This record gives sequence, structure tokens and C-alpha cells, in this order.
Amino acid sequence: MGISGKTRVCAIIGDPVEHSLSPVMHNAAFKELGLNLVYVAFTVTTKELKDAILGARRLGLRGLNVTMPHKNAVMNYLDEVDATAKAIGAVNTILSNQGKLIGYNTDGNGAMIALQENGVYPEEKKLVLLGAGGAAKAIAYHAAQDVAELVILNRTPEKAKKLADVLRKSFGNKVKGGTLSSTVLKDELETADILVNATSVGMHPDVNSSPVPSSLLRIDLCVMDIIYNPLETRLIADAKSVGSKVVSGLEMLIYQGAVAFEIWTNCPAPVEVMRNAALNELEKQGVRH
Ligand code: ATR
Repeated sequence: MGISGKTRVCAIIGDPVEHSLSPVMHNAAFKELGLNLVYVAFTVTTKELKDAILGARRLGLRGLNVTMPHKNAVMNYLDEVDATAKAIGAVNTILSNQGKLIGYNTDGNGAMIALQENGVYPEEKKLVLLGAGGAAKAIAYHAAQDVAELVILNRTPEKAKKLADVLRKSFGNKVKGGTLSSTVLKDELETADILVNATSVGMHPDVNSSPVPSSLLRIDLCVMDIIYNPLETRLIADAKSVGSKVVSGLEMLIYQGAVAFEIWTNCPAPVEVMRNAALNELEKQGVRH
């Protein structure tokens, strides 16, 4: 659909945003469904954030995605923050509903949908989550609702333990935190069903590193990595080589976008179209398979 006087705008704000895959993904989806919406990227620095949100209000933007470094700070400028985003302490999606700005977090939900859509069902399973940063926190909150046991392991164990302590208040003793070391990994992975890497280990340019020794992987341990650059991380390649079911970081990216799309449009997201658009853009940007 061509741009007209009735076209509404969605955007991503952050710093940097030039390489974001969200514009191509959402514009392809808007086009597929014939929606009169367009999606652009705005570089917004920390000191410009407050004005940028005011600008979004005044200009009547339909929706925003929020990326680094604003996911926490943006909560101060919204009219409402939904309960999940509040618990996670971060907003990555904003809906403007009749002038009211409402914040959501679609990262954790996106990760859990990515697992399920790829045939990995977390209900009644033991999930080991590596990392305790922003992405891990969003995933942990959602995973804790579904799984039988959640073990959060981090290089800085205090952060994993703190996150586990908070989650235990809502989800009980099924959540625990510990150190990301080969000894602990060996113990925990022996009885685990799903492993999710939410650390930055293996991300470009550190492409030969993996957070898990390959000897600890086995065919009945499903592995998801949230890194999508490279598309196939060392961890995913190692897991594939023992025959495990694997879910790449691109899947989480697509499904967090799909959930945001549905919040803005009330239409089911055309996931396949979004995946192809993201893959094309990654190829253009020279991201390795
Ligand atoms: P994001 O928002 O993507 O989650 P982040 O909040 O900076 O990013 O978190 C990065 C995660 O990767 C953290 O869990 C970090 O561990 P620390 O809390 O100990 O810093 C983890 N990480 C980064 N580099 C790592 C490395 N070389 N080995 C192990 N974990 C690492």
C-alpha cells in the first residue's frame, strides 16, 4: 500500500538502530496484510529519550519498539506498563491507544513461542538458562511460568541468584541460580531437557566460542541460542552435530516482533513473511550462516 495522508507510523528507537532488522520485518508484514502503516528507525540518545516519547505522542505514532539503551528508562515516560513488563523491569514495545502510551515486553514471550513453534515444549521440563542480563531476565520470567524446573547460570553468580530469588517469590522453589562453570553445567545439564543461551558468548566476532563444552551436549537436550549473528552459532552447530533439536536466535527475534505486531494491529502476524524479510536483510548485511 502506498503512503498516503492516512498512513500511521511505527518506529524503533534506540542507539544504535541502523542495523535493526525490525523495519524490514514489520514493513514486509504491513505490506502482506495491506495495512496502512509504515515502520522506520530513529536514533535516540539517552538525553533525547524524554523528548522523543513526547514527540511520538504529539505526532500520534501507532507503536514503538524500544531497544538499547532505553528499555528501562522509557518506563518513566509511559501512561501504563503491563504487569509482565513491570516484573521484568523493561519495555521493548509501546502501543499508543487513543493517545495513551502503554508499555509491554515481548522478548520473553517471543522466546517461549519460538521454542514451541519449533517443536520444543517447555511444560513439565527442566530448562537451564545461561545469562542473567536483560534478555535472560525477560526469558526467565516467562520460562518460570511454564517449566517444572528453571536453573539460571551466570558468569557473575550473584546476578543469577538475585534473579532466581525474585522469581522464587512468584514461582516457588522450582527456580534456582548458580555459577556458569563447566562443573555446574555438567551436573545441571545431565538432567535438563532444554538449554537456552542468553549470554553474549559466541556472538560476532567471537564466533568460535561456545558457553557450553560440546561434550556436555546430547541428542535429547534441545538447544536454543538467542544470538542471531552469526545465524548458526558454535553452540547451535555443536548441538546439531550430536543430533539435538535446535532453535536459532532469529526465531526469538521474529516472534518478539510477531507479538509486537499483534499488539499494534490486532492481526495475526505473517511470521513466514517476517522471517524471509529478516533473512534477506541479514544476507545484505553480510551476516554469516
Ligand atoms: P542482554 O541485554 O543482551 O542480555 P547484557 O544485559 O549485557 O545483555 O547481558 C550479557 C550477559 O552475557 C550477561 O549474563 C553476562 O554475564 P555477566 O553478568 O557475568 O557479565 C554474559 N556474558 C558476557 N560475556 C560473557 C563471557 N565471556 N562469559 C560468560 N558470560 C558472559
